[in-house]
Amino acid sequence: MTKAFIFDLDGVIVDTAKFHFLAWKNLAEALDISFSEEENEQLKGVSRFNSLQKILEWGHKNISKEEFNRLMAKKNEEYLSFVDQMSKDDILPGVLETLNYLKENNYPIALGSASKNARRILNKLGLNSYFDHIVDGNEVSKAKPDPEVFLKGCKLLGVAPQQAIVFEDSQAGIKAANTAHMISVGIGDKSVLGEADFNFEGFSEINEKTLKTLINFKK
Ligand code: BG6
Ligand code: MG
Repeated sequence: MTKAFIFDLDGVIVDTAKFHFLAWKNLAEALDISFSEEENEQLKGVSRFNSLQKILEWGHKNISKEEFNRLMAKKNEEYLSFVDQMSKDDILPGVLETLNYLKENNYPIALGSASKNARRILNKLGLNSYFDHIVDGNEVSKAKPDPEVFLKGCKLLGVAPQQAIVFEDSQAGIKAANTAHMISVGIGDKSVLGEADFNFEGFSEINEKTLKTLINFKK
């Protein structure tokens, strides 16, 4: 059975998770809401809108729609000021090797990200040409853990969900892949991403042999 690959972006291809954390932390603190790495974990893979909603819930704050929109824009502005400093050197170890192997062997590849900034980030990293299709936060109405983003990716790639191998660093993303019966690969801490079919600390643990194991795996 032919396989296709779907990559999440933030925390999988590049460590933008630390920039999201910093920008949300600054915003939360300005509102007198405490915000730690633990809370941040729950925001990974979660859309910008839902992230702000959660932070406000944690702080028991009620704000107007206008203020909500202003805060989302402010967070994004700060986030992008970090993103714009990035270059090819920020691609996480082992990612390029994996992408090159998959390209050389003609596997279809898509991006499946909740971020509305995905295209801008791929451009900064010079990675656009690796992806046959990009599905990002601008194209989905239901955020992870809903599998919409990955199902759209499968449709564009022309494969059934069972043929898709998904790389994800968030609990919400692993849940989304599992719900759609895709092969889920957790990138990061196994104690957090234990529900995935496979777990790796990062792409430097993934080589040709590992990729063949993923390709031959039947769910
Ligand atoms: C996900 C991140 O990839 O994208 C989340 O893990 C983030 O932390 C979400 O909130 C939306 O990103 P953006 O760039 O549209 O604010
Ligand atoms: Mg992610």
